[in-house]
Amino acid sequence: MESEPENVDSADTAEVRSDGSGDVSLRGVTKDFGSFTAVDDIDLDIADGEFFTMLGPSGCGKTTTLRMIAGFEQPTAGKVLIDGKDVAGEPPYKRPTNTVFQNYALFPHMTLEENVAFGLKRKKVPKAEIQRRVSEELERVGLGREAKRKPAQLSGGQQQRVALARALVNLPKVLLLDEPLGALDLKLRKGLQVELKRIQEEVGITFVYVTHDQEEALTMSDRIAVMNQGRIEQCADPEQVYEKPSTTFVAGFIGVSNLLPAEVRGGNEVSIVDGPTVTTPDAGRFSAGENLFAVVRPEKLDVSSPGEGPADRPGIEGIVESSLFLGTATQLGVKVADDSKLTVLVPNASEEERHRLPGGGAKVHLSWEPEHMHLVTESPNGSGPNGAGAGEVSTSEEQQQGEEAK
Ligand SMILES: Nc1ncnc2c1ncn2[C@@H]1O[C@H](COP(=O)(O)OP(=O)(O)OP(=O)(O)O)[C@@H](O)[C@H]1O
Ligand SMILES: [Mg+2]
Repeated sequence: MESEPENVDSADTAEVRSDGSGDVSLRGVTKDFGSFTAVDDIDLDIADGEFFTMLGPSGCGKTTTLRMIAGFEQPTAGKVLIDGKDVAGEPPYKRPTNTVFQNYALFPHMTLEENVAFGLKRKKVPKAEIQRRVSEELERVGLGREAKRKPAQLSGGQQQRVALARALVNLPKVLLLDEPLGALDLKLRKGLQVELKRIQEEVGITFVYVTHDQEEALTMSDRIAVMNQGRIEQCADPEQVYEKPSTTFVAGFIGVSNLLPAEVRGGNEVSIVDGPTVTTPDAGRFSAGENLFAVVRPEKLDVSSPGEGPADRPGIEGIVESSLFLGTATQLGVKVADDSKLTVLVPNASEEERHRLPGGGAKVHLSWEPEHMHLVTESPNGSGPNGAGAGEVSTSEEQQQGEEAK
């Protein structure tokens, strides 16, 4: 007997896709493992046809949340609703969902065709229909011509596309993807990101996507839930999450964290500690005396010589500690206080300009437009600028350099 891998959770209740019934809601969902709370009172509404991403560092509860939607795990408290229906106690194969995992888990002795057909055969779908649907899905993922090959005769990226076809062929209303590109190298991953997004738009079903890669989340998603220690710290579209992070953790996890401690003065004024007082409507959201952080993204900082910074813009003095050539840009590390360092990204417009950039040890003035400064509060669970996750995240360029050096 064939033992079926966990990820062939064929969706036999779902035969129609993108019919407006693939929405997913979580209400107060909690998962405890013994005394440890892996998922802590999560509320979420994912719309039908949405590309929704759960993003966060290792161990924050992404997989556990996904497994509760799939039915591999039951919540300790709270409800999972799919298409408005409470699915408590329903096993995975009864839910209109399918899961694609990081390790593709294909049957090695079966051809691609047979791998994709497996779920439909078990459901006794008529042969002609199986053939039609299997070849349609293999075409969709660009493997029509490889149908007779076995998994071992495919690259990792191709195997992952078979796993995708095998999930899509069951016509799920919701596709759950757990770091499906995690095992692939950077180039392949980038290519498949574009392809996955295209396929999602084509089939129009809900994708719930899990990743710890912020760049992947930003490029693919309609909306992102940023998770930290079992909780959602922010749920918004990619632009909002990047431009207007709500907490120090989100600011640090998405992109490079440039956090300056600050205190709200009242009205629209906020004072940067050991720095300028800035007038910005953003400060009006907080009350006077509140301690928080100002975020300015590395590409929004301008470098000039000390004393020569534009007088009409906020700025701060610092000392260049590092200069890293990244190809399209140069990244400067500038120390602005004993425990405060800002990263500056200067686009490499011309070689001449690049050679004019200050080197290590040079004093510089950094300035920015008030509207490019965003105020964030400290993360509720204390993973602030020096906590887990934030600050340890390297830029995508650094990741890229690292991977290419391998
Ligand atoms: N079956 C289990 N028993 C006990 N603890 C568990 C179990 N499954 C998960 N956990 C714990 O729950 C937390 C969340 O795990 P989860 O797998 O959801 O994290 P994740 O966000 O998917 O991380 P990663 O990015 O590493 O995959 C972790 O601390 C993990 O050790
Ligand atoms: Mg996981």
